[in-house]
Amino acid sequence: MSTVDSQQRVLSGMRPTGRLHLGHLHGVLKNWVKLQHEYECFFFVADWHALTTDYGDPGIFEENVLDMVIDWLAVGVNPGSAALFVQSKLPEHAELHLLLSMLTPIGWLERVPSYKDQQEKLREKELDTYGFLGYPLLQAADILIYRAGYVPVGADQVAHVELTREIARRFNHMYGREPGFEENAMAAVRKMGKKSARLYSSLRTAYQQQGDHEALAKAQALLKEQQNISIGDRERLFGYLEGGGKMILSEPQVLLTPACNMPGLDGQKMSKSYGNTITLREPLEDVEKKIKTMPTDPARVRLKDPGDPEKCPVWQLHLSYSNQKTRDWVVAGCKSAGIGCLECKKPVIEAVVAELEPIQKEAAQYERDPDIVRSIIAEGCETARECAKETIQEVRSAMGLNTW
Ligand code: TRP
Ligand code: SF4
Repeated sequence: MSTVDSQQRVLSGMRPTGRLHLGHLHGVLKNWVKLQHEYECFFFVADWHALTTDYGDPGIFEENVLDMVIDWLAVGVNPGSAALFVQSKLPEHAELHLLLSMLTPIGWLERVPSYKDQQEKLREKELDTYGFLGYPLLQAADILIYRAGYVPVGADQVAHVELTREIARRFNHMYGREPGFEENAMAAVRKMGKKSARLYSSLRTAYQQQGDHEALAKAQALLKEQQNISIGDRERLFGYLEGGGKMILSEPQVLLTPACNMPGLDGQKMSKSYGNTITLREPLEDVEKKIKTMPTDPARVRLKDPGDPEKCPVWQLHLSYSNQKTRDWVVAGCKSAGIGCLECKKPVIEAVVAELEPIQKEAAQYERDPDIVRSIIAEGCETARECAKETIQEVRSAMGLNTW
């Protein structure tokens, strides 16, 4: 049984919707690479999520799943520090989704802002489906099944994590009273060892009898640092502290990913649906071509017409890729018509190429040997399964299943 503090666990998922691009790299992946050094990370391919909107197009998954994991690996997501897996290989997510659906009011799902928004936006896709309505609950199951403490997401997904918290609370409230809870909790106290057990008990008393919140916080900290009790016992002791039942599902926190300003080739946000991307495995000649043909400030018709970087998408790229000195050179040269646009683009081309070259070298190795990628995924699935099984067992018995 895992004794890792699940509050230090990070979980995030990404839909396999095609080749990843610079927007993903700067918006999401660099953050993942950083997080994998600080937390126990679980990153997964959310193929069921993609099906909620692209169920009419099943062919996209076969390639995209493997390709996406190759991109993750190529940018430095390390399977030694993070479990990389595929959602549909973990039926436990689906079972938890089903069980949670029993206690999820439809209104909670209808009120999630992305529901109506996306239906409007993706009109051609016929999203009046049960699966699409339930997709934030599927996301809640993804998170809760690992008892993740933190979920790195962008602002558009915050409401989903909030829903997850509400579901966890509702679940704990309804099912947190397991039979024999007191006895189990007391046995768990003893498992902490004499010294910690005594401290825990006195802090609990101080909180329950005098309402001492500092004692509560201290006791929670004490539980977090226990190495030799199982996750189940830890949740039991968290619940026991506050007098309630067992906390079977733990409420995750959002780790807000800072908005990424990576512009696409046309100055809008880089996105596949705008057709303005540079993919991570774009041939480097094409990278050069694409940047060379990017639009610039329309005022610069001729070389001697001065321009304004603020009106130019290339400037946005300088903001991501260039140092202060280069930026000063751009601003001065553009406003005085001292440099041409091609000249101005050169340092950006060099910087993007320098960024992509090592990524592409790495990716090429995995492309040559996709079995390595498959075995990385298989291993990630195993790690995930171990943890998911533990939660689903507890959920089943809390809901009265599994009793014989
Ligand atoms: N819904 C997310 C998206 O569309 C992907 C996702 C699925 C996810 N499950 C998750 C993200 C769990 C974080 C945690 O981008
Ligand atoms: Fe844009 Fe640079 Fe041309 Fe100015 S000089 S318009 S910043 S590409």
